[in-house]
Amino acid sequence: METLRIDGNTRLLVMTGAGVSAESGIPTFRGSDGLWENHPVEQVASPEGFHADPALVWRFYSQRRTGARPCVPNPGHLAIAEWEQMLGDRFLLATQNVDGLHRLAGNQRLVELHGNLFTTRCTRCERPPFEDRLAYPEGTVPLCGQCGGRLRPNIVWFGEPLDSRDLLQVGDFLRRDDTRLVFMAVGTSGAVWPAAGFVDTARKSGGETWLVNAEPAENTGRFHHFIQGRSGEVLPKLVTFE
Ligand code: OAD
Repeated sequence: METLRIDGNTRLLVMTGAGVSAESGIPTFRGSDGLWENHPVEQVASPEGFHADPALVWRFYSQRRTGARPCVPNPGHLAIAEWEQMLGDRFLLATQNVDGLHRLAGNQRLVELHGNLFTTRCTRCERPPFEDRLAYPEGTVPLCGQCGGRLRPNIVWFGEPLDSRDLLQVGDFLRRDDTRLVFMAVGTSGAVWPAAGFVDTARKSGGETWLVNAEPAENTGRFHHFIQGRSGEVLPKLVTFE
């Protein structure tokens, strides 16, 4: 297997997707049939779906909370946390995952592009998102204790924009010109934007690009290096620090 050499003049942006958590027991979106109990995922992960049937959406996210709660980081997450330890501010992790496993593994230089499964926010008032690990009983829609408005999962749904501060942080890191740039995508199908386009921004900034994935992704051709395999097996052996 090829190895990635990182020296004192290299910065690393890692971007992860559902595949990195698969070995922790969290199901991916694509690769199976992308449906949840015969509902297209857009029906339970979009503002329109929430408006049409908020109890169904809460049932979906309550089940995902129950499923993710006992899961723990796998050797792939732990390898990425170690890279942050080695690199300090020459490291940034952008994840599309909402399961919180990167933080549990120890990553702090972390951008959660799609939100977090264990936080909730109000659809009506300005109350900031708050920690919420509850799975709500079937048929219920929790209400805000401060204004009585409907609560919703703090997830970026289909059709919703990503937080501009998150995108700025990733863009600034990619465009910094003080060090050699390496961009690595792990466990993502390359189907969802804007994350799927980070590889192009990295290349425009002169970066070297790596993909680690169980199967070819939609944008595999955009990467200089593709390593096919499970992230929990590949990542612990992939990087050598010089
Ligand atoms: P996907 O489910 O689309 O893709 C997961 C990828 O991981 C697939 O290409 C698999 O081949 C690969 N994979 C599976 N197991 C793996 C393993 N052990 N090691 C390495 N790779 C593995 O997940 P994402 O690309 O993350 O958005 O999906 C992007 C977004 O689409 C998600 O964040 C979600 C969804 O809609 C929201 O919920 C907002």
